[in-house]
Amino acid sequence: MSEIDTPAARPANPRFSSGPCAKPPTFSVNKLAGAALGRSHRAAIGKAKLKQAIDETRAILGVPADYRIGIVPASDTGAVEMALWSLLGARKATMLAWESFGAGWVSDVVKQLQIEAAVKTADYGQIVDMAEVDFDTDVVFTWNGTTSGVRVPDGDAIPADRGGLTICDATSAAFAMALPWDKLDVVTFSWQKVLGGEAAHGMLILSPRAVARLESYTPPWPLPKIFRLTKGGKLIEGIFTGATINTPSMLAVEDYLQALDWARGVGGLNGLIARADSNAAVIDRFVSANDWIDFLAEAPATRSNTSVCLKFTDPGIADGAAFAKAVAGRLEAEGVALDVGAYRDAPPGLRIWCGGTVETADLEALMPWLDWAYRSERAALARAA
Ligand SMILES: Cc1ncc(COP(=O)(O)O)c(C=O)c1O
Repeated sequence: MSEIDTPAARPANPRFSSGPCAKPPTFSVNKLAGAALGRSHRAAIGKAKLKQAIDETRAILGVPADYRIGIVPASDTGAVEMALWSLLGARKATMLAWESFGAGWVSDVVKQLQIEAAVKTADYGQIVDMAEVDFDTDVVFTWNGTTSGVRVPDGDAIPADRGGLTICDATSAAFAMALPWDKLDVVTFSWQKVLGGEAAHGMLILSPRAVARLESYTPPWPLPKIFRLTKGGKLIEGIFTGATINTPSMLAVEDYLQALDWARGVGGLNGLIARADSNAAVIDRFVSANDWIDFLAEAPATRSNTSVCLKFTDPGIADGAAFAKAVAGRLEAEGVALDVGAYRDAPPGLRIWCGGTVETADLEALMPWLDWAYRSERAALARAA
């Protein structure tokens, strides 16, 4: 029996998972009734919906008119892999990683593609110094490290007149952070993250320089159909107007359109950023007020406003992993926070999603529960001692 009183209020929505993330607050399955189900995605209705998804993405994210936006298979992973396999090898690469997803791209490029690459890594909580990167190489990095809660603060270190391409996995950044399009040649994300869409499809955004590379360079390795962006040395333009490489889920497309519609309603990108900032600020205030918990991200400028990662700093905790697991378990058992344990490869702690689909009031209601779960677990340890 827990001897600490439970807080009076509960979050109305306990979904704080870092992916798939909470659906928009206005979501209802009834809103998907207009999906083009049982129809060909190449029929006019299907193509129009796919094109609308691309056009609305451009409008809300402020993607420049001369950048291509494509809907591709296999979620963010598919979009990143397409970019790596199609673009790399023309010049040296630099791989940056400060958490698990970035590390995955390093391994792909170095071990699978076997490209000559400078690898720069930082520990969980820290970030690679972008000022030391050679942007005349092709640079691959993750804008927001979802498993460490460490993000690139801005694109200032990336020169506008770089010789290489910048390939940026922005899956937990797009729709929550300002992305400097002139500094980014490839940007990828998945629907299941900040907008709370469904998984399955990825978004691949290409700058004119990335397209020029595709049209002037053929990698020496074979490319499966699912990765092929060119035909006869020319970009397959259809992919970037809604003629997808293979069959998409029109249910997932409808769901993404609903999420974009909601995003527009909350003020578009600025509204979404403001919502994520205000959510992250709730946790910031809680961390400042409590000496037993801290951000994993060390430098405040690098702290994510989406995947907020926390660590327990109480020196009385002997087994950090067991403690964090027990705290997350208590929150889940009470139904006040689902899926908030740290990522399996990350240091022990909690990870609380703060992207725009989460309501600030729910985070405010969650904070007393964090305190409750911590104190309850501490008391349990003391009893066991
Ligand atoms: C930074 C980052 N990259 C890639 C992925 C993989 O995304 P998906 O499962 O949508 O392919 C994730 C998922 O959490 C992520 O956070």
